[in-house]
Formats: sequence, structure tokens, C-alpha cells
Amino acid sequence: MKEQNSFIFPKGFFWGASTAAHQVEGSTVNDWSEWEKSEKRLKHLRKLKLIEKFGEDNFISGMAADNYHRFDDDFKMAKEMGHNATRFSLEWSRIEPEEGKFDEREIQHYQDVIRSARTNGLEPFVTIWHWPIPLWLRDKGGWESKHMPKYFARYADRVVTALSHDVRFWITLNEPQVYSAESFLIGEWPPQKMNPSAYLKVFHNLIKAHIAAYHVIKRISPEAQIGIASHNMHFEASRRSFTGHIFKAVADWWWNFYFLGRIANYQDFIGLNHYFHHKMDHWWKNRKNRILSDLGWELYPESMEHVLMDLKRFGKPIYITENGLADEGDVKRPWFIVETLKRVHRAIENGVDVRGYLHWSLLDNFEWGEGFWPRFGLIEVDYKTLERKMRPSAHLYRDICLRNGVTEELLEKYKNLL
Ligand code: FCB
Repeated sequence: MKEQNSFIFPKGFFWGASTAAHQVEGSTVNDWSEWEKSEKRLKHLRKLKLIEKFGEDNFISGMAADNYHRFDDDFKMAKEMGHNATRFSLEWSRIEPEEGKFDEREIQHYQDVIRSARTNGLEPFVTIWHWPIPLWLRDKGGWESKHMPKYFARYADRVVTALSHDVRFWITLNEPQVYSAESFLIGEWPPQKMNPSAYLKVFHNLIKAHIAAYHVIKRISPEAQIGIASHNMHFEASRRSFTGHIFKAVADWWWNFYFLGRIANYQDFIGLNHYFHHKMDHWWKNRKNRILSDLGWELYPESMEHVLMDLKRFGKPIYITENGLADEGDVKRPWFIVETLKRVHRAIENGVDVRGYLHWSLLDNFEWGEGFWPRFGLIEVDYKTLERKMRPSAHLYRDICLRNGVTEELLEKYKNLL
């Protein structure tokens, strides 16, 4: 059998890249920016000797990539890079800096951002909440507060009313599974709690908040397409292992499907953020000889096909809203993108309705816990001058976007990078 060498995607497929406000905009004032400077956090970093290694500035989001002022240039670059879609988030703390008081200038700012995306031929996928919250909300208990769904729905009402005429795709929440676990169970992120009951409370408040926002958005804009960005992992049990299979079943049920199942009747699409593969033998155990990113995350493109096939059960269109790697030298990114897209293509051939791929990330940015050193961007950012430069993989990805797939000729052209 001849090996398949061209992988052309369905007509109208969305190609692009994602960002999140706190990670790129700069000068945000929210629970996260305050936590970055807090003694509790710094103590933790000192204990791990991370300040010595990376310097204190690495851990403070500060100016980030100054995308708040440079969004238009960044979208122009995305256009040059062949993209026809983009994902970014609204910063709640800018829009509602005081309880119930909405800042019209900031709403106008996001109107400008959306207009710029459209002018540059990019379909906007707008995330309403990508993790930080305003300070007043933090002081009211944040996601642990039983009033949170109400606050979230009010905020969603305001932004969707103002922006819906130019937005079709709304992502209410980014990775509720990761946020609740990191912030309330593992205790790594603000408010650094390790409290299972707080974790469950937050998890359920996130479900309620999504459903409340779904109703609000549909009322304002019945043709809007609404989903969350779900962080699904590929749990794989080795064939011989009984405990591995049990673990996989439980992990799939809780991590991959529970949230999506609870909101199944209140979503028009599934946004998929995919990064992780876990092979389980007797318990949670890493495979040998794994290929790793700069962050030590396993790079295993095969897993994309598995998570996509698993999402078929929901019977909804799927947009890959994040997938990527920290790779400062851009050594593995070209290979990773091509191999991942082959798996996306195969899932489509097997009947999964995938309609878009948004790479993480458009540009280098501030990674939540690790800070600036991990480089996820198709575009490299020099944090001293804020200059932007396309990495080689951005050129490769450009050709993929423009050809609507991975072709034999393209594989030949970039064979030195792959
Ligand atoms: C995801 C987050 C995103 C980014 C990537 C690397 O979990 O949604 O903001 O940090 O990881």
C-alpha cells in the first residue's frame, strides 16, 4: 500500500493561533498579577531555587508582549502567516474593574481588537474567561463564591451585548478542569489552595456559570456558537495492566468527559485544548524514551487522534482551540505540527467533525506558573525590545494554512526542518 503523503482538510477549515489576555496584553491588574508579587508565591519559588535560576522578572507578567497596544500589528502578522482565524480572550478585570461598573473604553478596546481581526481576515474565537478575575471578585471569594455564576452571567451579558454583531464563536471558559485543579487542589496557582471540597465547589460553580452564560448569549445572539475550551488528555493503559485500565476509566470519566457531559445540552461545539498523553502501566507511570518539550511535557502527536475519536460521542463540531509546545530553538515544532495535523486529518477521515486548528500560541507569552522562559510562539518575542520575528515553523505553518493541509510538495520543501 502506498503511504499517504497529502492531507487536505475540508473546505472552510479554520487555521490560526491562540492567545490569552493575561499572557500577552501586559499591564493587567487582577488576582493573578497580584499573586505573582505575593510573598506566598515568592516563598514557593525561592524554595525551589527558581528565582536564582530565572530571575524574579521572569515570574512577573508586567508588560508581557504588550499585545494590548500591538494587537493590530500582531493580527497583521497572523494574516501574513496565512491564518484565517484567531483566538484571544477578554480581560474581565479591565472590563469590570469595580463591581457592577463596566468600563466603556475597555469594551471599546475589544471592539477595536475584533474589528482588526476581521479586517485582517481572521475569524475571531473570543474567550470570555481565561483564568484571572478582577480584584473585587477575588475579595468576594472568587470561584468559591456561590454568587459566581451570577457575576459571570452579568459580565457575559455586557460583553456579548456590545460585541456580538461581529462575533460568531464564543468560548465561555478556558479549561475549567485545569484551573480548578491547579488553583484549589494542587495549590500551585492563585489562590494556592489544597482543599478538595473547595475544588468541587469551584468545579460545580464553573458548570453553573457556563450554563448561565450560555442562556444569556443565546438570548442576545441566537445564532452564536458557544462552547468551552476543554483540556482533554490521552490516558492510555498498557494492555496487560488491570489497574491501568481502571485508572484510565476513572480519569477519562472525571477529567475528560464529566464537565462536557454536564453541559452537553448547552454547547454548540467543543473547543479542544490538547497537550498531554499519559501511559499508565500499574499506576501513573511515564514511558521511557519519550520526546520532550522544553517544559518536559511529552510530545506524542498520535494522542491527538485518540482524544478526537473519544469526543465523537458528543456529536458536536470540534475546534482545536489549543495545541503546541515550548520549544525555544524551534527544533521540534515543525515536526510536531505536521505529525499532529496528520492525526487530525485521520480523525476527520474516520468521521470526527473537526472544523479548525488553532495553534498555541501566536506569539511567545507569559506562562502561568513558569513565567516567560517557556517559548510557545510561532512568533518569537524579544522581551527587551518587544520586537517580533516569525520562527521557521511559522513559515511552514503558513504554507499549510494556505494549502488547506499538508501536501507532498510542502513536506519536500521543508524536509530539512522535519
Ligand atoms: C493551557 C492554557 C494556555 C497555555 C497553555 C500552554 O493549559 O490554556 O493558556 O498556558 O496551556
